[in-house]
Amino acid sequence: MRKFLKFSIIGGFAALILIQIIPYGRNHENRAVKAEPLWDSPETRVIAKKACFNCHSNETIWPFYSNIAPASWLVYHDVAEAREKLNFSEWQNGKGAAENPQLIKSMVISGEMPPFQYTMVHPEARLTSEERTKFVEGIIKTFNQK
Ligand code: HEC
Repeated sequence: MRKFLKFSIIGGFAALILIQIIPYGRNHENRAVKAEPLWDSPETRVIAKKACFNCHSNETIWPFYSNIAPASWLVYHDVAEAREKLNFSEWQNGKGAAENPQLIKSMVISGEMPPFQYTMVHPEARLTSEERTKFVEGIIKTFNQK
């Protein structure tokens, strides 16, 4: 039994080292910021920056664990998918949620965004209910003035 435990631990470490070879998730490119929305106010941008930009912009701050598999796979996948759906740095693309303030509203008011597993490790991105309301009002104004 002891031997088995020892082999499992060694095997586990060996696997952890081996998976570092897989290149997926290592591309931490931040493309240039092309165009941001015409923000209705600086406050709306401040909230977006602190709660959304790490995933939904080209200004991602990649944490150290984003270099270590398997965390790197999860972080990379989240950012790639998030940028695909809504990218505050490539606004003129106007694709996906960027065309739809109601979708942003429902994700933020329901508390789905920013995701819970993210705010657990990034408490600075947590939004109070007043911040959520203010942000949604600001986003709707931002869309209306484009
Ligand atoms: C940890 C990264 C992360 C953060 C931070 C984050 N999101 Fe997301 N967001 C995602 C991912 C991944 C998806 C795509 C998967 C999904 O829909 O759940 C997504 C999807 C969305 C969508 C599209 C939903 C759909 O059904 O198409 C909207 C709108 C959105 N996020 C808004 C926001 C807003 C606004 C903020 C900031 C208040 C925010 N998100 C913060 C990762 C993030």
